[in-house]
Amino acid sequence: MAFDFVDQLKSSVDIVAVVGEYVRLKKAGASPRWVGLCPFHTEKSPSFGVHSTRQFYKCFGCGAAGDVLKFVMEIEGLSFYEALKALAERHGIPMPKRHEYSDPESRLRASVGDLQELAAKQFRENLAGPKGAEARAYLQRRGVTPQVAEEFMLGYSEGGGQQLARLFEKQGVPRDQLEKSGLVMARQEGGGWFDRFRNRLMFPIHGETGKVIAFAGRALGDDNPKYLNSPETPIYQKSHVLYNLHRAKAEARKLDFTILVEGYMDVIGVSAAGIRGVVASCGTALTNQQVRMLKRHSEKVIVNFDPDNAGAGATERSIQLFIEEGMRIRVLELDGGLDPDEYVKERGASSYRDRLMHSKGYFHWLADRARTRFDMRDSDGRMQAFKWLLPNVQRVGEKLERLAVVNDIAFQLGVEPGPVLEQFRKAAVDRKTAEMRPENRETQVTDAERTLLRLLLSEEDVRESLGPHLASLGQLERLATRRILETIGAMIQGGGRFSYGDLEARLDEAGRKLLGLLTWSEEDPARHRSALPSVEQAANAWRDLNALGQKADRARLRARIREATSAGRHEEALSLIAELDGQGPE
Ligand code: UTP
Ligand code: MN
Repeated sequence: MAFDFVDQLKSSVDIVAVVGEYVRLKKAGASPRWVGLCPFHTEKSPSFGVHSTRQFYKCFGCGAAGDVLKFVMEIEGLSFYEALKALAERHGIPMPKRHEYSDPESRLRASVGDLQELAAKQFRENLAGPKGAEARAYLQRRGVTPQVAEEFMLGYSEGGGQQLARLFEKQGVPRDQLEKSGLVMARQEGGGWFDRFRNRLMFPIHGETGKVIAFAGRALGDDNPKYLNSPETPIYQKSHVLYNLHRAKAEARKLDFTILVEGYMDVIGVSAAGIRGVVASCGTALTNQQVRMLKRHSEKVIVNFDPDNAGAGATERSIQLFIEEGMRIRVLELDGGLDPDEYVKERGASSYRDRLMHSKGYFHWLADRARTRFDMRDSDGRMQAFKWLLPNVQRVGEKLERLAVVNDIAFQLGVEPGPVLEQFRKAAVDRKTAEMRPENRETQVTDAERTLLRLLLSEEDVRESLGPHLASLGQLERLATRRILETIGAMIQGGGRFSYGDLEARLDEAGRKLLGLLTWSEEDPARHRSALPSVEQAANAWRDLNALGQKADRARLRARIREATSAGRHEEALSLIAELDGQGPE
């Protein structure tokens, strides 16, 4: 198989542009590196980078690394050939026939994908044709214009239950592909196939790159279920999909927020109101994967679930997930028992937009929830409500916002603001100290330490020669990077393969943060200058560190001598002087 095509493809696509479709990247100063939050693991500060001249990506946090093809494979869950084809298609580069898929798994996924596209086309034709009259009338009743129906590629599945089955059979689609498509089902008796979706309004569900991967079909009347969904297939995993993300992501990035609603019709209603950055979790419990998909495109999310108990419960759970991923959350709860779609229809787009812009910080929403959960008439209930809320206040990012929240909460809960403030203040201080430490420590890291650390991380031979001695580095206990160096030492002593990911996993939060700051900073002074072999550079850094340590030791001794002398403890002073002399010349 000719790798010339692979090379040709790689040289005609830019990895920064490709990765940039999935991850918000920022240019790192004047360097050819772009950085962002890693899409492959949870993190709050960026350790993921894309190198534009060398055309590769690398995450110092989880170790993910590779070229543009590897990236597409990993993020889309594709095989090599699928990624190749996806990239070629997206960039309008014709793919030589001989590069068609070779492995059966990829072939199956490709044909299951083709069948979805075929079905989508058929459903749309149905909706436009004579059999689609009832569905068109339904759409009109619900205020969905033909333009909007077109935009969302809505369709209609015939009531006969044979249309797709016949179409696929006529095309000679093999049995395993039919079975896996989720579009047709085998008859229990007599052989043959029949359509899964019958007499329903069809919503195609797209993957992030805009390919149809599944369907939802809504009953036109009161049939059960109201929505029938595709089963999971080789190309459709419910928990990895957000409805409308492929259309919403551009707006989400521009405005830096995404609106999350429950249902298909909510997405369509809100979007038709001119608010394009809207996606739906589609009635299932939100998953970590979905939250991460959102986070790749915007930092903020506005949760706008249905205003019923189920919606409120789902909102509470989603808040936890969003906080864990470090996203900023607002909650919009519409009045009048209206879901987003109904609200837009009844009160108008501008009213919805207005409500959206005035949506509450999640914490305010939680406080309202607390009032419905606990008995606010007695002080016990108020205290319980307060305790229920406390863990969340620590996560409110801005100090002013936090203060405002605290005042509000105290007022809302009818508790004395004084003691509440004190507790909140303490929580805020704890949080601050925990957060500040790594940054403070970074500024204390000496040049020699930076060099040593960088070489230990990147050079096998440096690890081999210095690793076993790290524990005996003179003033290890005084270094800001002590925990990191000690951990590296212990890992090397323990044998086995060293990896950045393992190192990070062994560090605490502060250690990880410091490590991230150091590995991504451009300030290593020896980085570009030195022509020495790495082991020698490391030895120099080691010597510098030892010298610095000795200097600090001597300074401390002198201070103790001065103190003993002025306190009249002459004997102690003399023995300290002897100790200082014993350390040799400076
Ligand atoms: P809703 O019942 O709120 O539906 O379910 P909806 O989106 O508002 O639709 P309309 O306005 O009644 O037509 C919210 C979501 O839950 C999923 C769907 O994704 C739906 O959009 N759901 C609901 C199902 O998958 N199956 C069902 O039977 C019902
Ligand atoms: Mn609804």
